[in-house]
Amino acid sequence: MECRRLGKTDMVVSVLGFGGSEIGYERAGARTVARLLGTALDSGLNVVDTAECYEDSEALIGAALGSRRNEIYLLTKCGHPRGYGRGDWRGWVRYIGYSGDGEAARYAIECGRFDTLQTSVSIADQEALELTLPLAVQRGMGVIAKRPIANAAWRYARKPSEPYYQAYWSRLRALDYPFLRDAASGAVATALRFTLAAPGVHTAIVGTKRPERWPENARLLEAGSLPAAEIERIRARWREVAEASWTGEV
Ligand SMILES: NC(=O)c1ccc[n+]([C@@H]2O[C@H](COP(=O)([O-])OP(=O)(O)OC[C@H]3O[C@@H](n4cnc5c(N)ncnc54)[C@H](OP(=O)(O)O)[C@@H]3O)[C@@H](O)[C@H]2O)c1
Repeated sequence: MECRRLGKTDMVVSVLGFGGSEIGYERAGARTVARLLGTALDSGLNVVDTAECYEDSEALIGAALGSRRNEIYLLTKCGHPRGYGRGDWRGWVRYIGYSGDGEAARYAIECGRFDTLQTSVSIADQEALELTLPLAVQRGMGVIAKRPIANAAWRYARKPSEPYYQAYWSRLRALDYPFLRDAASGAVATALRFTLAAPGVHTAIVGTKRPERWPENARLLEAGSLPAAEIERIRARWREVAEASWTGEV
């Protein structure tokens, strides 16, 4: 799998990373997590993203990694403004990153304190392409794209009941990209390759609770870079349709 240096850090990361929120929020069992991580690592991933607030995600990942801990870069998050009732500040870090979107993310870049930025970038979330990524590139920051396939929200025929998916679902309805009518894997491939083509993005952390997704998504990237003309079509459609309220979704 293709790897990219994460900004000015010494970490060379796989373009596809393991998103660790679903396993926590959807309460995956230890055996499922072991299978998920095992398959992800065997597919060439070396980035695992988690957070103190993703319920038991950190502990599940810790238990599942075992002797393979040295094969990955572990990204986690702490310091939530609301607090989660647990002392979550840590001392054992090599680099610090900021996770967020919009003007706050821009401020995080400008303040010069952070090595990396984790922010939403996808076919349904393009604010970062102009607001933050060019500046992050200028400053040599590592960029981790979160929610990189917009939760594949186009899969749902009706508005999903889960609020987390609703904004992207509505945006994608309005954007109505022709490629979303391709077979599911074709649409995911275009969405993921669009995110990874964004200047400044080094890795895209995809969430799933299905182990078979890792080899599947790794295979989708074998098609290589998305052609420039297709990228421009997606950008043009966004410029035409996006409303002012379509800011970076947390
Ligand atoms: N820092 C933050 O504030 C923040 C916020 C949100 C997310 N994150 C991080 O970003 C990661 C990814 O975000 P996310 O999971 O919300 O969004 P995402 O990666 O854009 O979408 C995940 C969804 O895509 C589906 N999917 C994955 N591969 C697929 C494929 N080949 N075909 C069809 N569907 C596919 C998964 O469903 P299946 O289960 O069916 O595979 C899952 O529901 C999280 O796990 C977390 O680590 C960080």
